[in-house]
Amino acid sequence: MIKIKNLYKKFDDLVALDHVDFEVNNGEVVAIIGPSGSGKSTLLRCLNLLEKPDDGFIEIGDVKFDAKNYKSRDVKLLRQQTAMVFQHYNLFKNKTVLQNVTEALILNKKMKVREANEAALKLLEKVNISEKADKYPVTLSGGQQQRVAIARALAVNPYAILLDEPTSALDPELVSEVLEVIRAIAHKDTTMIIVTHEMKFAREVADKVIFMVNGNIVERGTSKEIFDSPKNDRTRQFLKQILSDRKEGDS
Ligand SMILES: Nc1ncnc2c1ncn2[C@@H]1O[C@H](COP(=O)(O)OP(=O)(O)O)[C@@H](O)[C@H]1O
Ligand SMILES: [Mg+2]
Repeated sequence: MIKIKNLYKKFDDLVALDHVDFEVNNGEVVAIIGPSGSGKSTLLRCLNLLEKPDDGFIEIGDVKFDAKNYKSRDVKLLRQQTAMVFQHYNLFKNKTVLQNVTEALILNKKMKVREANEAALKLLEKVNISEKADKYPVTLSGGQQQRVAIARALAVNPYAILLDEPTSALDPELVSEVLEVIRAIAHKDTTMIIVTHEMKFAREVADKVIFMVNGNIVERGTSKEIFDSPKNDRTRQFLKQILSDRKEGDS
């Protein structure tokens, strides 16, 4: 289980996370939606301690982290509980596709190279990209690179996978191949928190949806509750806006 309590993060005078609380059950998929600047990325980044929260508690699986009272070992342990998938893939450019996936297996999991290669190939098959194992990321499309990034995240077998707008840098025709891979993972028992503007996708794969504005969770509920009968005016406005933007984009 993931438990977030009183999570608070300030950048100078700007409160990016304003005492956020939420919980994610084992195997659940949570979608975080909300306007730009509402704190969605900061929330994900705090869970992985890419940003250090100023206050609050984070519990992921059997690791607990207190922002006001922690040791460097706690940072390492918490980071190992999650793997991030970023908007811009962030693959190692000087490593092949296969090496991108084996890196963490060899360094963190202390696997032998041969064993790591085998495990990595299996993961690359899972995301339908094993034929590119020996290629460098620069030769791949954005959709292919993002699928490698997802294989890399799965490799360390983390408690949860955190995805920050994984399809928003992609050309429209490449979005579906990445969503398909994420959907397949979501249907296995992987715990997942995904920031996305793909409302149709969120509605379909998310067990729970969180709507954020100005560092606060304004509304939360099942995907059905949020998309079919949002209670808060700001949720309604946001959904109306984003759905009409999408229609324009489609035509
Ligand atoms: N490293 C940073 N330094 C200063 N301000 C930041 C930093 N990262 C994010 N912010 C600010 O924090 C707020 C939340 O940002 P972010 O979490 O990126 O929002 P979202 O992902 O919802 O678009 C924004 O006002 C943003 O400008
Ligand atoms: Mg963001």
